Amino acid sequence: MNQRKILVTAALPYANGAVHLGHLVEYIQTDIWVRFQKLRGHNCKFMWADDTHGTAIMIRARKEGRSETEVIAEANAEHQRDFQGFQIAYDNYGSTHSEENQKLCGEVWQSIRDAGLVKEKDVDQLFDVEQGTFLADRFVTGTCPECHEPGQAGDNCSKCGATYSPAELIDPLSTLSGTKPEIRSAKHLFIELEQLHGFLQDWTQSGDHLQPEVANYLKGHFLGDPDSEEGAKPLRDWDISRPAPYFGFEIPDSPGNFWYVWFDAPIGYIASTQQWCEKNDQSLDDWWKNDVAEIHHFIGKDITYFHTLFWPGMLKAAGYSLPTKVHIHGFLTVNGRKMSKREGTAFKASTYLKHLDPSALRYYYASKLGARLDDLDLNFEEFTSKVNADLVGKVVNLASRSAKFVKNVGLSVTYPDDGGLFQQAAKAGDEIAAAYENCEYNKAMRLILELADRANPFVENAEPWNLKKDESKANELQDVCTVALNLFRQLVIYLSPVLPELAEKTGVLLNDPIESWDQSKSPLTGTDVSKFKHMMKRIEEKDVKAMEEESKAEADATVAAEQASAASDQYGDSGQPMIDEPLTEECTIDDFVKVDLRVARVVNAEHVEGARKLLKLTLSLGGEHRRQVFAGIKAAYEPEKLIGRQVVMVANLKPRQMKFGLSEGMVCASGPGGEEVFLLSPDEGAKPGQRVH
Ligand code: MSP
Ligand code: ZN
Repeated sequence: MNQRKILVTAALPYANGAVHLGHLVEYIQTDIWVRFQKLRGHNCKFMWADDTHGTAIMIRARKEGRSETEVIAEANAEHQRDFQGFQIAYDNYGSTHSEENQKLCGEVWQSIRDAGLVKEKDVDQLFDVEQGTFLADRFVTGTCPECHEPGQAGDNCSKCGATYSPAELIDPLSTLSGTKPEIRSAKHLFIELEQLHGFLQDWTQSGDHLQPEVANYLKGHFLGDPDSEEGAKPLRDWDISRPAPYFGFEIPDSPGNFWYVWFDAPIGYIASTQQWCEKNDQSLDDWWKNDVAEIHHFIGKDITYFHTLFWPGMLKAAGYSLPTKVHIHGFLTVNGRKMSKREGTAFKASTYLKHLDPSALRYYYASKLGARLDDLDLNFEEFTSKVNADLVGKVVNLASRSAKFVKNVGLSVTYPDDGGLFQQAAKAGDEIAAAYENCEYNKAMRLILELADRANPFVENAEPWNLKKDESKANELQDVCTVALNLFRQLVIYLSPVLPELAEKTGVLLNDPIESWDQSKSPLTGTDVSKFKHMMKRIEEKDVKAMEEESKAEADATVAAEQASAASDQYGDSGQPMIDEPLTEECTIDDFVKVDLRVARVVNAEHVEGARKLLKLTLSLGGEHRRQVFAGIKAAYEPEKLIGRQVVMVANLKPRQMKFGLSEGMVCASGPGGEEVFLLSPDEGAKPGQRVH
């Protein structure tokens, strides 16, 4: 056999969130493909990692008062725990925040620079002054500049569909602080993708790198058609840098600027491979700069642009192999609707695993996944009936109704006449394999279940449970069970990329581990049969309900927490002042009344010769009552502007002799000092001399 060398990746999950059943459409799809290739004897490796960089992680770390590295380490552990829970067997799991990745990014960057693809432009971007950060589009809301609908996102309007830059929004607000951001200009670096137009045109429109609908979509939306009347469309420059502060890698030849997360994320595929190569004594170039090695990316349709234009462009410029194929899938909906965190239908992987069997979801997704980009719907009624009818009712049933009768005698030494069932199913193997290869898992499942539909009548007609009652029919019973178990095993081999746990249990039952697709070609004879242990449980409606309820409760708790934090955030008030100056010791009302606070009017204010911080104020408490006060507010107030206004003063403070004269009290103000001093004043109507209680 011609052994292929195949490198596979799935999109790197953002470290910013938990794995949900939508992600698992892709990750189960990828795992099935990898397991299939391995079963076929190919040298196939699954390289994967967390996508850790970007503003979202930075903001979250700030909110939680933790470092970004702590947040991403926790996410990495949780993601891997969930993936293992779903039996996803990757060969390496890295992180884009790794030394390997930083180094590779530097090399790719240098090649792109050397190829003359980088240019600088100033970009106007919204800046949140309070948070001290530029705002990514999704952290801005405002009124649509086209249709004037309020409450729209930073990049497009959900009402009229207009797209715009966040700086064009009317009345923009930062969702981080609730404050109005200002427009600031900053230098950004761009990759001039248009220089690679010809290459990308060829690569996307020829060969078998992309599904036909994807190639057409790229032609229609981005590349245009050079042979048509309209001709080619120019590709837009790709903004590849973000100014500090940003959680990512600083660009070596552009200090203060960081690579945009979508630059370093796909390079993470290579970095993860490198980590694996180091552990396994292999060379990176054998995988990434070698025509013999295939590279397959599995991604969702939302990130098509990055993987079919930018990424091939980067690889090309940096001298790496281009993807053999980018396999793109549609989105998961739940009961026909978009998954929703608020409604609790964005089921977390970990919540599912508390109540239900991972094999069930693996099979359900396989039965629905085709080679096209259609969305697929999770419908729990269908899920339950499919898993119960197909897997429990038609597949596992073959074993559960026969294994116990041959526990003591094992399988017959020669394979009995089964009317051609085994051979027929062996022949079907090629078509099933082709379906897996082409990502038509729904077809593969259908073909396998057709075989099960032929195997089951054999057992029903032979009635091993009746043969068991007649001792003279012991040989016949052994033969019938040998056929039933072989037909079962054949199905399990075909299903093993989808159901690795069932394959493992079958290996134990028949004392012959399932390791290769070719085991489906010849029957197993003469082996011992172990005691039958249950292989797969029926799905109970109550477990599905429990999962749905728990997910709903999680969603409600999140919404409540969001509302609580939104209430304190409505004005964007940060907790910093209370941290800077914590409350002092408790006092009694008696303590408080000792301090006599009075409304006073500033009747004169002037600079003091030789004083750096002080202004000299003359305060009136009404009538003849005047006080002279030296206040450290020079950096914050011009004296002329103070004259006439009312303030609050400590009127019974013991007078103090200062270098410039006698100070007979204090004016009340807040703020840390310097330019940030804010005098207190009473509302209109207050009269000088009134006491403040
Ligand atoms: N971090 C990027 C990928 C970088 S790859 C260099 C990203 N992460 S993600 O966590 O948002 O999504 C990971 C993958 O899950 C993507 O391929 C995405 O399409 C897929 N899915 C996310 N939600 C999905 C559904 N509801 N349904 C199907 N796939 C979904 O994008
Ligand atoms: Zn609009």
